[in-house]
Amino acid sequence: MGRVAGKIAFITGAARGQGRAHAVRLAEEGADIIAMDICGPIDTSVAKPATPEDLAETARLVEKAGGRVHTFQGDVRDFAALKAGLDEGVAALGGLDIVVGNAGMWSYGLVEEIPLEAWNTILDINLTGVWHTVRAAVPHLKAGGKGGSIILTSSVAGLKAYAHCSPYVAAKHGVVGLMRTAAVELGEFSIRVNTVNPSNVRTDLIHNETTYHLFAPDLENPTWEQVAPRFQGMHLLPSPDVLPEDVANAVLFLASDESKRTTGLTLTVDCGNYTK
Ligand SMILES: NC(=O)c1ccc[n+]([C@@H]2O[C@H](COP(=O)([O-])OP(=O)(O)OC[C@H]3O[C@@H](n4cnc5c(N)ncnc54)[C@H](O)[C@@H]3O)[C@@H](O)[C@H]2O)c1
Repeated sequence: MGRVAGKIAFITGAARGQGRAHAVRLAEEGADIIAMDICGPIDTSVAKPATPEDLAETARLVEKAGGRVHTFQGDVRDFAALKAGLDEGVAALGGLDIVVGNAGMWSYGLVEEIPLEAWNTILDINLTGVWHTVRAAVPHLKAGGKGGSIILTSSVAGLKAYAHCSPYVAAKHGVVGLMRTAAVELGEFSIRVNTVNPSNVRTDLIHNETTYHLFAPDLENPTWEQVAPRFQGMHLLPSPDVLPEDVANAVLFLASDESKRTTGLTLTVDCGNYTK
């Protein structure tokens, strides 16, 4: 028996990176997956866009792991479309038990310089989009009558501050506030709500020229080998980053009944990140 056997999980931002890792890890442990992603460009994002092929690859990997899968393309900023896609997925797979609000993006700038559009996009996706996800999912969890587990992807930036990242830090702190409020409201229905708070994760979100430059403004074309020691400087454990699979294992624990008496937790996966 898998650790989440028979459960159905909804994951946003599932085309690649951490979202894909969560989908595959949960499927390996017996879950069926509703996977959604925007699969396209986002204005002001520093990462390259995910593609429909990326989401199809996630679906292939879920099926290979033994899970059933329902995918849809959509934007977490569009509540009506998100709800319609989720409703369809729940009808196709037969219920909902686990929700992973993972979709997110980032861009940067000093607090007095960051463009208004960048601020608004980050808040719309990384905070309001997560609320949309919770809002669309809770009626299904309540209707199932078996409780459920909601896991929201915050960040170490949801617990402490980083220069050049004010909208990201504000949104990820906001996700922690949303999680805590939802945990208070939903506890009586046995619906648990927790966050994962990763440090640097090995995905396209940080593995790009713009982010490398932020860590190494003194270098012209910094490479990973050059910036890795600076990432390492944030960590107690001897690793400059964490892997998507490390975060997926934390998500699996929070999704499974092993954490059935845990709610309102901020679960760090951060190599002992000790930035202020
Ligand atoms: N990589 C890191 O260092 C790190 C650290 C802490 C937290 N996080 C958070 O982890 C989450 C996953 O990021 P990742 O590291 O896997 O990066 P990623 O860029 O590989 O994956 C993010 C996914 O979210 C999707 N997405 C973005 N905006 C969307 C929208 N409006 N609607 C639907 N899908 C959308 C993207 O298309 C992409 O597939 C994000 O919330 C991110 O902020 C990342």
